[in-house]
Amino acid sequence: MSKINVAVIGVNGFGRAHLRAFDANKNANLVAVCDINEEYAKELGEKYNVAYTTSFDEILENSEIDAVSIALPDQLHAEYVTRALRAGKDVLCEKPLALNLEHCREMIRVAKETGRYLMVGQICRFTPGFVMAKKIIDEGTIGELFFVESEYAHDYSKMTCEWRKNDPERDGFLGGACHAVDLLRWIAGNPTEVFAYANHKCLKDWPSNDCTIAVMKFPNDVIGKVLGSTGCKRDYTMRTVLYGTNGTIIVDNTNPKLTLFREDAYLKEGCHETPIEIPVEVSNHNIIDEINEFVSCIIEKRTPILSPEEGAATVSICLSAIKSAKEHKAVEVEYDF
Ligand SMILES: NC(=O)c1ccc[n+]([C@@H]2O[C@H](COP(=O)([O-])OP(=O)(O)OC[C@H]3O[C@@H](n4cnc5c(N)ncnc54)[C@H](O)[C@@H]3O)[C@@H](O)[C@H]2O)c1
Repeated sequence: MSKINVAVIGVNGFGRAHLRAFDANKNANLVAVCDINEEYAKELGEKYNVAYTTSFDEILENSEIDAVSIALPDQLHAEYVTRALRAGKDVLCEKPLALNLEHCREMIRVAKETGRYLMVGQICRFTPGFVMAKKIIDEGTIGELFFVESEYAHDYSKMTCEWRKNDPERDGFLGGACHAVDLLRWIAGNPTEVFAYANHKCLKDWPSNDCTIAVMKFPNDVIGKVLGSTGCKRDYTMRTVLYGTNGTIIVDNTNPKLTLFREDAYLKEGCHETPIEIPVEVSNHNIIDEINEFVSCIIEKRTPILSPEEGAATVSICLSAIKSAKEHKAVEVEYDF
């Protein structure tokens, strides 16, 4: 296969970014867009000079379309992904993979049965600062990790979409903080146990908690925490601190510098206050690289790094934190998919 023909489903929000990335990818042909809202479908179809429709069935029946990119409300991921896989399409699905483990398992099962590609868009795996942090850790520069923390702070109070706001199953810790959870499990492995507290003080007209702090036990005796706040009054941030026995990394997807403290640098300079600052590109929604990975996996017949099992593991950790906060006890995380 030299080029793949792609349709984007759900185009008015983050789907616009998917469209830009497929349009820029030299191995993909954007051939159609689909949105339940005809106005959006028409606008984006005309903008990219491709076919547009409000009917997902039409997309599924079109044998010229090899792959679909699902940028639909979280509640629809499981249904639309499984229908697309069964119709023989490869699928990129936005995060979180689904809102419960039953749906995650079904998506994994159908992907296996049909033999199609299913990749989940956990975009932080492509954020330049986070990629750099992981490289530094993997090279052993900061020694052995012992504590990792990340926060997802994003004020949702002005977001108007009803699907985000009115579904009690879509707790902000799953919908938003899944980014920080996925980042930490990418760096430190799958936590075995989670204990969380949560409160509900900012988004009072939303049905679920808006702030959760989840403490986790990772493999190799690493401990860590994720803060998720969707009502905070501040700029969006995913500030992350990664502590190793020989150094520390501070990295934020909104900051053009990664800060690295190294024990050997202190010794050389005799000073504990001279970190090394490494310039990084601020690209906190690096959809270009995410979509390059999806397209090249299909063309090179390579399993996506972000398999549905990866997406399900992240969902499972988030759900464990939500459960822990409700039941006031530690929860063992399930990875049986
Ligand atoms: N990776 C990221 O950083 C990131 C950022 C934003 C959103 N997201 C994810 O992207 C997905 C979409 O979020 P959004 O913010 O773009 O939402 P949105 O509500 O802004 O856009 C969703 C689009 O889907 C369309 N739609 C709704 N139901 C449909 C249906 N049945 N058939 C066809 N079209 C339908 C809507 O008309 C709208 O155009 C969510 O899963 C969200 O979690 C990811």
